[in-house]
Amino acid sequence: MAGAQEYVPAGTGLPELRRAVQDCQGCGLYRNATQAVFGEGRESARVMVIGEQPGEKEDRQGRPFVGPAGRMLDRALVDVGIDRTEVYVTNATKHFKFSRERGKRRIHQKPSRTEVRACRPWLEAELRVVRPDLVICLGATAAQGLLRPSFRITQERGAVLELPEHDARVVATIHPSAILRAEDRETMYQGFVADLRVAAGVLRSLQAG
Ligand code: URA
Ligand code: SF4
Repeated sequence: MAGAQEYVPAGTGLPELRRAVQDCQGCGLYRNATQAVFGEGRESARVMVIGEQPGEKEDRQGRPFVGPAGRMLDRALVDVGIDRTEVYVTNATKHFKFSRERGKRRIHQKPSRTEVRACRPWLEAELRVVRPDLVICLGATAAQGLLRPSFRITQERGAVLELPEHDARVVATIHPSAILRAEDRETMYQGFVADLRVAAGVLRSLQAG
């Protein structure tokens, strides 16, 4: 797998990157998806939220976090007082990976570590252009892809970490989809909000300093 690098135009802004990602064949995931789903938000956003991959809805609409997980994220950002217009949302991989159930329904499958690595140049390009002060990783795929393969959400969620090569802080938490699947949604949601509150605190202290 060659990876996305050769498809990523150098030195361009988000509109060019968003156009170019539609031609990416850096891994096999482009074959079955409807389209690539690039990140969304202002180039001046101070926060970058990284999810796993586009879901079913995102694949159809071509926009990240427009489905149920996105609504959960939006609600939590409001709860902790992070201004949504300061947030750029994207994913570790830009194409939807799925298997078909009974020939029809598309069931989301986790991208492999190789696919995440193949897609990393797009994320790097987004980081270079947006230059966020703070990155929020949603779930293990994002955190392991960005930080290190041994990263454990259960042990390291809610901690303030560093991304020295991008001069940014990082906070990792659970994926909002995990809340939607959980039996005790309220407890999971409160934990999610507690982690995001740490992120909101980092932003406030950066603003004050
Ligand atoms: N889940 C993600 O990780 N990303 C999306 O864009 C939607 C759902
Ligand atoms: Fe390219 Fe990423 Fe899509 Fe793979 S998932 S084809 S690397 S954009």
